[in-house]
This record gives sequence, C-alpha cells and structure tokens, in this order.
Amino acid sequence: MEIECDNFTIRNWRVGDEMSLVHHANNRKIWRNVRDRFPHPYKPEDAVWWISYANSERPVVNFAIAVEGAAVGGIGLILRDDVYRLSAEIGYWLGEEYWGRGIVSQAVSALTEYAFANFGLCRLYAEVFEWNPASMRVLEKAGYQLEGRLRKSVIKEGQIIDACIYAIVR
Ligand SMILES: CC(C)(COP(=O)(O)OP(=O)(O)OC[C@H]1O[C@@H](n2cnc3c(N)ncnc32)[C@H](O)[C@@H]1OP(=O)(O)O)[C@@H](O)C(=O)NCCC(=O)NCCS
Repeated sequence: MEIECDNFTIRNWRVGDEMSLVHHANNRKIWRNVRDRFPHPYKPEDAVWWISYANSERPVVNFAIAVEGAAVGGIGLILRDDVYRLSAEIGYWLGEEYWGRGIVSQAVSALTEYAFANFGLCRLYAEVFEWNPASMRVLEKAGYQLEGRLRKSVIKEGQIIDACIYAIVR
C-alpha cells in the first residue's frame, strides 16, 4: 500500500525503518498522548518487533508516514469485531520535528478514505485524551465530529482523565 500525499507518503513499514522509528518515537510528548503499549523509552528492539508485527497482520492496517523516504510517524487502524465489526479505531503519531505542517490532518483524511474504500466499514473513530487539543483539531479538519466525552475513562501517567470521542460515518 502506498498513498502519495503533498509532502509525504503513507506506506507499509519496512525493514530498514528501525533507526528512524526509534529516533522519532522515543519522545515523552508522543508517549503521553497514546496508549501505554507504545513503549517509552522506545528501544531498537521495540522498532524491530513493531515492523515485523505490522507486516504480519492481515489485512495490513498499520502504516508509516514517510517524509523524503524516512519513516517519521505512524498511522493505523484497529478493526473491531463482533457487533462492532463495521467500525475501526484510527490512531496516529508524528515525530515532533514535523509537527504543525498539516501532515497528520492530511494523513488522517487519506487513511480514512482508504479504510472506507477497502474494509467495508461504516464508522471510524478516535479517542483523544482531554489534554490533546492538537489531535482534536486534526480530527475536526479530517471531517470527524465530536460525539462525547468518556469521563474518567483513561489513566495515563497516574492521572485519571477524560477522553473525547470523535467519529466519522458513511
Ligand atoms: C497530534 C499530532 C498527531 C498532530 O500532528 P500534526 O501533523 O502536527 O497536525 P497538523 O499540523 O495536521 O494539525 C494540527 C492542528 O492542531 C492545532 N494545534 C496545535 N497545537 C494546538 C493547541 N495546543 N491547541 C489547539 N490547537 C492546536 C494546529 O494549529 C493545527 O490546526 P490548524 O491547521 O487549524 O492551525 C502530533 O502533534 C503528535 O504526534 N502528537 C503526539 C501523539 C498524539 O497526540 N497522537 C494522537 C493521539 S489521539
């Protein structure tokens, strides 16, 4: 899979992305806004495992955001099952050096189109920690709507916080 965007590409993770992945992912400001299963510190062995895991999934649902060939972020889906099987959760992060250039807003729009076109879904959603207005803005720019506030649904770094749920439906 490869989606060409303005100044970046969404593509499969590749062996060879490890060093760049560690460089950009090993950042507390990123870890603070994602699930605890995202490692911190982010070590070379974490990158090796992730690239192998992402490419072993069928369908492949986790992709790199690449600028000038280098993997500087990640974007992916969690396909839900059972009665939620027409839904997927979208998640993403970007290396801090590239923040504020509109990259993730465009990436979310592009992966949303790809997901609706390829996986027979009727709903995509994201849960954003209450202290992350940049991610809320990303979702709004990509056409997602705020559906509600999941009060005290998250514990991150010992703090119990709300998450805001954003969704787009087709
Ligand atoms: C959140 C994140 C993905 C944004 O990526 P990005 O490529 O910098 O986002 P974009 O440049 O496309 O858009 C960011 C928008 O948020 C706005 N923004 C940034 N900081 C903000 C803040 N503190 N308050 C309000 N808006 C803010 C920007 O102005 C921009 O909106 P605009 O285009 O209307 O000006 C990136 O900062 C990141 O990886 N953060 C850590 C991981 C994370 O939060 N992942 C998402 C978990 S739900």
